[in-house]
Amino acid sequence: MGTESLDFKGKVALVTGASKGIGAAIARIYAEHGASVMLSSRKIGALEETAATIDGDTAVHAANAGDPEQARACVAATIARFGGLDILVNNAATNPYYGRSIDIDLPRFDKIVEVNLRGPFVWTQEAWKQSMEDRGGVVINIASVGGMKFSGSIGIYDMTKAALIHVTKHLASELGPHVRVNAIAPGLVKTDFARALWEPGADRKDWPWAMGRLGQPLDIARAALYLASDLSSWVTGEVIVVDGGSMVV
Ligand SMILES: NC(=O)c1ccc[n+]([C@@H]2O[C@H](COP(=O)([O-])OP(=O)(O)OC[C@H]3O[C@@H](n4cnc5c(N)ncnc54)[C@H](OP(=O)(O)O)[C@@H]3O)[C@@H](O)[C@H]2O)c1
Repeated sequence: MGTESLDFKGKVALVTGASKGIGAAIARIYAEHGASVMLSSRKIGALEETAATIDGDTAVHAANAGDPEQARACVAATIARFGGLDILVNNAATNPYYGRSIDIDLPRFDKIVEVNLRGPFVWTQEAWKQSMEDRGGVVINIASVGGMKFSGSIGIYDMTKAALIHVTKHLASELGPHVRVNAIAPGLVKTDFARALWEPGADRKDWPWAMGRLGQPLDIARAALYLASDLSSWVTGEVIVVDGGSMVV
């Protein structure tokens, strides 16, 4: 197998939460490798700004990842624009609550579940129904190391990520061999989403895990490139932890 396995020409990717952070890095790396990429998130202006910085074949479509009708419309728009869908990255997530899980109010509980857990499931359903059932494809769910261990004040978010890992395995078993479904579990990555976790130590040179540094969105995008490519053609139902070694210290 040669470098042509990373040639994504003729492939169509849809990335949710693609206006910044990890999603933007994934959209960029796919476009750089020749894919046509639909970038989606809620704010069209931010999407347009990000797409303008990517050298490649891109389009944008605003959609709330927690809204099934908007998911359906975004997948349909991707297919209308590019002729199909080969790679779906369920990257958008939310966490409007910090504190003891036991104290959370139901509206915020429901919102976290809607966006982080029901969202990836519904987007995968739409991708399957509208394109992948006929054409095959790859689904990548962005989970978190928080879904694999106990990490304190973001318990409900972590529960949705743990469940997302299970959804990944379940759908991999249902949809193979036609569609591969995998997850990436990032550790702490320097994005707005995790600002409260890394900013207090922004100048640190000695983060307390094996690789000693914060993650960058590109660290995660490289794993998403592998999982979307033929290089991982026998990998499904897996979780790749990309965390600089935080799980092993
Ligand atoms: N950063 C970390 O340390 C870390 C660690 C583990 C896992 N993760 C996971 O990595 C993924 C990306 O996070 P990030 O760190 O890159 O965050 P980020 O930089 O804050 O970006 C989040 C993206 O999601 C979009 N978004 C937020 N809520 C949305 C919704 N309801 N519907 C559609 N789009 C929505 C945002 O754009 P709009 O505001 O325009 O919608 C933005 O494009 C998430 O699944 C997160 O759980 C991150």
